[in-house]
Amino acid sequence: MKLFRLTVLALLLLASTEFAGAVPTAMTNVYGREYTLLNGKWNVIVDLYDQGRKMQIYRNLKPQKPEEFYEYSFEGGMRLNVPGDWNSQNPELKYYEGTVWYARHFDSPRRPGERTFLYFGAVSYRCNVYLNGEKITSHEGGFTPFQVEVTDLLKAGDNFLCVEVNNRRTEDAIPALAFDWWNYGGITRDVMLVSTPEVYVKDYFIQLDKHESDIINVSVELSDAVEGEVKVEIPELGISRILNTDASGRAGTSFKAKRLQRWAPGAPKLYDVSVSYGNDMIEDRIGFRNIEVDGTRILVNGEPVFMRSISFHEEIPQRMGRAFSEADAVMLLSEAEALGVNMIRLAHYPQNEYTVRRAEEMGIILWQEIPVWQGIDFEDEGTRAKAQGMLTEMIMRDRNRCAVGFWGVANETKPSPARNAFLGSLLETGKALDTTRLYVAAFDLVYYEESTCHFEMHDDFTRQLDVVAVNKYMGWYHPWPVSPSEAVWDVCPDQPLIISEFGGEALYGQHGSSDETSSWSEEYQARLYRDNIEMFSHIPNLAGVSPWILFDFRSPYRFHPVNQEGWNRKGLVSDQGQRKQAWYIMRDYYRKMSEK
Ligand code: GCU
Repeated sequence: MKLFRLTVLALLLLASTEFAGAVPTAMTNVYGREYTLLNGKWNVIVDLYDQGRKMQIYRNLKPQKPEEFYEYSFEGGMRLNVPGDWNSQNPELKYYEGTVWYARHFDSPRRPGERTFLYFGAVSYRCNVYLNGEKITSHEGGFTPFQVEVTDLLKAGDNFLCVEVNNRRTEDAIPALAFDWWNYGGITRDVMLVSTPEVYVKDYFIQLDKHESDIINVSVELSDAVEGEVKVEIPELGISRILNTDASGRAGTSFKAKRLQRWAPGAPKLYDVSVSYGNDMIEDRIGFRNIEVDGTRILVNGEPVFMRSISFHEEIPQRMGRAFSEADAVMLLSEAEALGVNMIRLAHYPQNEYTVRRAEEMGIILWQEIPVWQGIDFEDEGTRAKAQGMLTEMIMRDRNRCAVGFWGVANETKPSPARNAFLGSLLETGKALDTTRLYVAAFDLVYYEESTCHFEMHDDFTRQLDVVAVNKYMGWYHPWPVSPSEAVWDVCPDQPLIISEFGGEALYGQHGSSDETSSWSEEYQARLYRDNIEMFSHIPNLAGVSPWILFDFRSPYRFHPVNQEGWNRKGLVSDQGQRKQAWYIMRDYYRKMSEK
């Protein structure tokens, strides 16, 4: 009996780890490396009943004898673009949740003295990766990069790469079983073969000290545990420093930077930086800025800044698909810039590097978060480990990006000891990697208290955050208990407070009463924005606002057949790119706030 139980336990453990491969974080600044993109048309097989692994289709076998046959072939069937979600590429896959096998061949010249890595910008939601018939890695989490070394696995000439992608929602996933955005599946970001020298600079973190205006802190980690000389150069600042790595391949230093021009919204100064070791050199463009809290104010480079923010999902509404390219980033960011923002809350997950780097060049501060979004099982140890992994992968990818000012660890969670422990462990994980940024979480538990005539929230976890954020839909999900001019807030009064979501729905071009919520009219949405802007003037510790949301976005939550048709219509801009009346109200409000 005991043997049977042990066997069952072993099988359960094996099954539970079918996708959750524990892999080290990807190399820093992959786009600064020498790489070959594996983007383009890939052959796919839709595997609704998960038969492909049992059939070992990743071996891509072909009949060798007359009596042999295989009930699959990757050639001659459906093809999908990589990067890209499958939902928007084939009408039959619009709602598909399950497994899709992606496959392609590639030639790989083996070059002596070099190492080769296979790098994925993101795969949604989980995957197993097979090369030349062997499983080589797996990953869970739809919004962060991962890599696997293939140096000794490549064949000279033709190689067969196969990726088993699955986007099924599960209770222990992050996000979990239900979320208010489309469950896009696929290889949704760049795939590349990256070449490095035998020993290379795997990671570096080069940022301005949190509190000093001219001290730059540097940490470097080599790919191997070797001692040696690393050179860090910032030519425009006349800086060239030699660091000696210890036996673990790590080194760190700090130095004063004279005449430093700090990065800021409206003045996005970036410096050419190079890090070299032996015959490896990697170059980056890095900005240096301070972001800190002073009482209820957020300071950028020592000056109080009101966060004029907006959110957008990683989605191009006109294409009804996930955004992934530089052109997509330009479209989303230029519409945000036109609104007059100095910040963007990238909802609700880490978005692609093109968006992050372009925002940095435009001088827009970013809030990036992991998708701990309602319905997370805070009691589940495995889920907590996944959240810690996602946070680690997000921070390790972007901690050299000075545009990122905020790390968000959760959205709309309910107070409980388990929730506090879960989020507390995320703050510990984050701060072990980066203490230069502000840690934030969004809550939705603000209520009007008749006894005090104030809007209040009682959630003791807020004390552990640098900035508290609140999602509150006054005039939409919540009718006004008092007039907007009497809506006084008393929420975390000694901390900076950002209204991280507010708004309401309107179908572009639909007109009606500004008094009727269910009119789904532009007039009602415009009135709602005017009312919320009035309320903002009665929040004494308000440090910023972020309307929900820039564009209408797709969501299976949204059933109304006339007003929604599977779209969340809270966009200031329609799914066709047309600005609604409320867009202009927000633009004028931000113009006024920028002059203060
Ligand atoms: C929530 C949530 C969003 C959601 C929004 C809405 O606050 O954070 O992800 O889309 O409300 O209901 O539109």
